[in-house]
Amino acid sequence: MKVVLVGYMASGKSSVGKALAEEMGLEFIDLDHYIEEQQQMTISDIFREKGEIFFRKLEHEMLHRVLSENEDIVLSTGGGTPCYGTNMGTILNQADHSIYLQLPVSSLVERIAKEKEERPLVRELTDDELAEFVGKHLFERRQFYTRSTYVLDCHEKSIERLVEEIKQEL
Ligand code: S3P
Repeated sequence: MKVVLVGYMASGKSSVGKALAEEMGLEFIDLDHYIEEQQQMTISDIFREKGEIFFRKLEHEMLHRVLSENEDIVLSTGGGTPCYGTNMGTILNQADHSIYLQLPVSSLVERIAKEKEERPLVRELTDDELAEFVGKHLFERRQFYTRSTYVLDCHEKSIERLVEEIKQEL
């Protein structure tokens, strides 16, 4: 079974994905980590040294590769993965389940503010700019995320509870 998690930065895709994979006896793959291993570079360095377009092409290729080479996985994607080119179509074609981890803008802003440095898209924003950026960006990206087969409301829920809710849907 292939399960793909999508959602905005800091929505918990990696932590929920890891816990879900463990619970279901599936392999966990984090697309950002996979890209970092392939390139032997951090995502921040790829953005800085090679630029975002290079990253998006790589992300597109790696998404195809991971989904076609693996059978029983939980894959957590990057926040932008479903929003470029044909990526969301690929996810819908290849995965048995795609799950959008949905959180309100205020919670996302709060989480992202704590780890801004590691996130190339928001690193240089002030806290006020961050709130405006996330609001607009999520508005643009929601149309891709909501094509998922299941929208999971993650507001104020523990990882254990989210894993239970996902399991009931599969
Ligand atoms: C990005 C999200 C990041 C990473 C890259 C771009 C985005 O992944 O892929 O920095 O465009 O939202 P996370 O959602 O895991 O932070």
